Amino acid sequence: MSKQAPKIDLPGPALERKADLPLHQQVYEHIRQAIVDGRLQPRLRLPATRMLAADWGISRNIVLLAFEQLLLEGYLVARTGSGTFVADQPARLSAPPPRRVPVKPAEPTPRSAFRQAAEAYVLPRNTEREAIRPFQTSLPSLRDFPFSIWNRLAVQVYRGLHIQHLGYGDAAGHGPLREAIARHVGVNRAVRCTPEQVVIVQGTQQALFLTASLLLEPGDAYWMEDPGYPAAHASFQAVGAVACPVPVGSQGLDLDYALTRYPRARLVYVTPSHQYPMGGAMPYPVRKRLLDWAQQRNAWILEDDYDSELRFSGRPLPSLQGLDPAGRVIYVGTFSKTLFPALRMAYLILPDAEMARLFARGKVLLDRQGPVVEQLILTKFMEEGHFGRHIRRMQQLYETRQNGLLDMLKAIPTPHGPLGSNAGMNLLVRLPESLDDRAVSAELAKEGIIAPPLSNYTLEHRQPPALLLGYAAFTKEQMQTAVTRLGEVLRRMM
Ligand SMILES: Cc1ncc(COP(=O)(O)O)c(C=O)c1O
Repeated sequence: MSKQAPKIDLPGPALERKADLPLHQQVYEHIRQAIVDGRLQPRLRLPATRMLAADWGISRNIVLLAFEQLLLEGYLVARTGSGTFVADQPARLSAPPPRRVPVKPAEPTPRSAFRQAAEAYVLPRNTEREAIRPFQTSLPSLRDFPFSIWNRLAVQVYRGLHIQHLGYGDAAGHGPLREAIARHVGVNRAVRCTPEQVVIVQGTQQALFLTASLLLEPGDAYWMEDPGYPAAHASFQAVGAVACPVPVGSQGLDLDYALTRYPRARLVYVTPSHQYPMGGAMPYPVRKRLLDWAQQRNAWILEDDYDSELRFSGRPLPSLQGLDPAGRVIYVGTFSKTLFPALRMAYLILPDAEMARLFARGKVLLDRQGPVVEQLILTKFMEEGHFGRHIRRMQQLYETRQNGLLDMLKAIPTPHGPLGSNAGMNLLVRLPESLDDRAVSAELAKEGIIAPPLSNYTLEHRQPPALLLGYAAFTKEQMQTAVTRLGEVLRRMM
């Protein structure tokens, strides 16, 4: 029969239920303190947890959790069959517990450029929480993605998964996917590259951040299309670079303005094949002059070719990269528009293999490497021809949807009619001069309509008021209802 454990001479703790410290931590601290200051002597046998809990009027679980921690930290020792004892030299054996005093986080001083850029950036919509509604911009028709094919390939990939894919792989990306991408951009975008120049990244966003971090220093000047892509601007701001806003016309960036005002820029951010968000394309002579200047100045050109594969008519414009004789262009393509954004898959094409290795090293510092399974599935998707087929289907669908929306918009009061373009997923609709596009957008939001104001994309070159409307993800019926409301709101506000 086991000996009855002696009662200990320690009153129960005064527990505070609303304190920052959980109850078991308070019990732990109560016993620990008694051990440290000698009220509970070394080698003293403690009562069973059930008894202690009953004596102190608390739940046994709380005592168990407290004992567990005291045992772990060496204040108590358990001897099988005999019970739990205060350790021989508890104070020397154990490190003092971490202080659990809630501290107010200190303001980092000075606030880093990265933090300022992160705080200033307006977060994009979160479609996991908010419904996808007209006219959400830049969103592909997710319902038309061939998930049955993707799922079939995913099953094949998981079944055939080799252990070689499960460790730490090449930060530049899965080799066969880099080959498939090099082939694809060669044929479809006239990009000249070998697979060694390709680095797979998590979205254009990572490409922008890597480029900014590796090629810019604080204080370096960059040309930013104005209006332009706010996420690109934010990425350059994050490394402390200085924006040189360049106005945009119907043919993209105003090169003469940029050359006159900011001839010494270190980097140029451009969407030459389909300017975002105005929709123009940079003509060949301007491309040549831009490339010449970059070569003379050793400046970098970051070509963001985000949606130009979704071209409806006319010959596809070849990329700037394909015209570049001097290796000044860094090309970025993304699967966010051709497949779906949550895939987080994009690619950089660097001027040579050495630079690609540098970018891969940079990627190692960010996230070591991209997820491999998605890359394996995507490789099959491309190699079996599904990618090309899906793009062709989406080109037709988006063209039909754009034409439909243009027709519907004829019924609403706009000064010049909407500006369609022969590619992409969005169009611009100008508003009467008297209206503030931010106010109109806010009013539409109350009616459940998403229509970002053009002002959100401008830095210093103000544009006449306009709204950006996405059409790719919406049926005719969805758009018709939204257009009717848009017309009502505009009439009310005019
Ligand atoms: C100009 C531009 N570039 C790139 C992207 C794609 O970004 P990501 O590849 O990070 O999804 C978008 C998406 O809206 C865009 O508008």
